Amino acid sequence: MKPRILVTGGTGYIGSHTVVELQQAGYPVVIIDDLSNSNIEVLDGIERITGIRPDFVEADCTDIAAVRSLFDKYPGIKGIINFAASKAVGESMQKPVLYYRNNLNTLMNLLDVMAERDVKGIVFSSSCTVYGEPDVNPVTEQSPIKKATSPYGNTKQISEEIITDVINAGAPFKSVILRYFNPVGAHPSAEIGELPNGVPQNLIPFLTQTAIGIRKELSVFGNDYNTPDGSCIRDYIDVVDLAKAHVIAVERMLDDKSSEKIEIFNLGTGNGLSVLELINTFETATGVKVPHKIVGRRAGDIEKVWANPQYANEVLGWKAETPIADTMRSAWAWQCKLRERGIM
Ligand code: NAD
Ligand code: WQD
Repeated sequence: MKPRILVTGGTGYIGSHTVVELQQAGYPVVIIDDLSNSNIEVLDGIERITGIRPDFVEADCTDIAAVRSLFDKYPGIKGIINFAASKAVGESMQKPVLYYRNNLNTLMNLLDVMAERDVKGIVFSSSCTVYGEPDVNPVTEQSPIKKATSPYGNTKQISEEIITDVINAGAPFKSVILRYFNPVGAHPSAEIGELPNGVPQNLIPFLTQTAIGIRKELSVFGNDYNTPDGSCIRDYIDVVDLAKAHVIAVERMLDDKSSEKIEIFNLGTGNGLSVLELINTFETATGVKVPHKIVGRRAGDIEKVWANPQYANEVLGWKAETPIADTMRSAWAWQCKLRERGIM
């Protein structure tokens, strides 16, 4: 029997896909989520895919008493994957204290409780946002960290530093820090996917909502960048590929496969795609048109960033495998499922 894994934020977008992969790899899971940005019905979707309903505790990770009582109930937890965080860049500019408090207190509580309860390791969700606007693409894990341009981005940088300081101070556990590029798509079963709150700020949920007619047209933020077609370039990574990397990272810590106490990996495909290329890929893959128009640049946008994933490929033995056209089809199938269920 494999040891139990605590997944914080496990009813969220990336968390739910990771719970599926963990359960399919034989790990019992307990989720802690305060449902501040997700829905309890996600558990039904996970159960329909895997045949297993994960244990679930509705609680706020910033409440250390609640985290301790979860460990009293589940004393066998050996690993944590920490997804729980507030993640909207724009909102973090309006409510910085909320972001610092939620994201940092959650992490610090988990680190304290890990030391008390003999947990072997924590996987942390970081972001390519730590590289800011890179001087050179693709970015490696050694590329310079740039000053964060939002409180949200700053919480990721500070979190990486907190983990490093705590482990260097002799904490009895390991950590794998994963820097995600742009996670997109949904589970191919269309049982789980991204559930954006209000008007989506991110490209793919806005695009699929436009394709289905919820939004009139997609605004492409700028076509005057220094890129081949003038629109911004990102590294769009399929959420199921991303989820699989977490299972490998957990195994690596639990089985002591590395002598390093902290490891950092970029999780991306290695391919940069422009906004216009992505729209085109979606239309070709699904046969559905996306009404769109070019508008001015969005303040604070990065012109281009994509990953060099070689380190994760070689050391983790993980590679992004899903073709982007399949990812666009899964995103579309999920949007159609939301419509079918009358959710959107
Ligand atoms: P999400 O909002 O879908 O999931 C986060 C989950 O955490 C939600 O279910 C929310 O209810 C929960 N949560 C938030 N604060 C909590 C708290 N204090 N206690 C308990 N639960 C809490 O977000 P996501 O896209 O799945 O992102 C997961 C993680 O990955 C986040 O840390 C995010 O910053 C990071 N990340 C996301 C992206 C992206 O583009 N989606 C990119 C890079 C990094
Ligand atoms: C992608 C591209 C936009 C919407 C954000 C966070 C980052 C990370 C991932 C967590 C950009 C363009 C978008 C639209 C558009 N999250 N776009 N019209 O900006 O790369 O990153 O999410 O860590 O920290 O900042 O993602 O999906 O918002 O944008 O043209 O309506 O799509 O300009 O080029 P981004 P995004």
